[in-house]
Amino acid sequence: MADRKMDIIRALKEAGDAPISGEDLGEKLGISRTMVWKYIKALEEDGYVIESSPGAGYVLVSTPDKLYPAEISIGLDTSIIGKDIHYFETVDSTNDMAKKMGLKAEEGTIVVAEVQENGRGRKGDPWISPKGGIWLSVILKPSILPAHAPRLTLMAGVAVANTMRQFGVDASIKWPNDVVIGKKKICGILTEMDAEADHIGFVVIGIGINANIPVEELPEELREGSMSLSSIKGECINRAEFVQALLRSLETEYLRFKVDGSTKILEDWMSLSNTIGRQVDVITPHKIISGKATGINADGALIVENDEGVHEVIAGRCIYK
Ligand code: BTN
Repeated sequence: MADRKMDIIRALKEAGDAPISGEDLGEKLGISRTMVWKYIKALEEDGYVIESSPGAGYVLVSTPDKLYPAEISIGLDTSIIGKDIHYFETVDSTNDMAKKMGLKAEEGTIVVAEVQENGRGRKGDPWISPKGGIWLSVILKPSILPAHAPRLTLMAGVAVANTMRQFGVDASIKWPNDVVIGKKKICGILTEMDAEADHIGFVVIGIGINANIPVEELPEELREGSMSLSSIKGECINRAEFVQALLRSLETEYLRFKVDGSTKILEDWMSLSNTIGRQVDVITPHKIISGKATGINADGALIVENDEGVHEVIAGRCIYK
């Protein structure tokens, strides 16, 4: 059903304003006119507005603001990322769903949802995921050591920040992996994996973007430190177009990572980051390290310099002074 509906949407999009008859659509897809009609009705139920004039045919008038696989895949020219897209209106967590699919899924499979009822952030924090956001997870199967998996989180941060910049939003990366506008967080990334000591079964990179969510509609405790694409731009973005651009950007970075390793990703991360060069307090489970952030190492540890020396901080909460 889903594939056929996608074929019909693709044909209607290609035809633009020119009507296509049920007969032509049927012939193109190898199905009867009655089946075409059934799919058209199903698409209308999904929110597509399709004009049908007797004798002339069908014209696509508008598409719904949904992250349907058809809206993301039509025109997507990637070879790995997004070849298979699983869509849910509501899900507990796209990362949990992706982890269930993990081993059997093709590399590059995407899980995307309009709403997460139990979205998860880092350190077990909840991740508020209402309608209007972009909540997605990507399954990757890289041939790298599990210890090197944090490099993929850096890669995702670079891909998200670059995509936002393509959409005219001046995004930066705050260590370890928040995408921010100034000091306000607009995207969080949660990487999880299924691995043995020296082998990765799969990695799930979960990306949560406050897209078309007015900041004032976020829970009060999040408002001050959060930003959204619609609030910064003063208008809603086309989420499907954004996801398409993000998947392209992820693919560019991932192909580069597979061929050249993480050198370029680290360079890009450094130039997109607004942490480097700042005075920071990094709160780790054992102590607070204060000093100047001067770089990151290959595994994403923050390098902080102070009077006591040079510290490589693997994990912690970074506060700008
Ligand atoms: C963070 O704490 O900054 C990470 C937030 C990650 C949220 C995303 S939304 C899609 C995916 N599914 C989840 O449950 N979490 C990640």
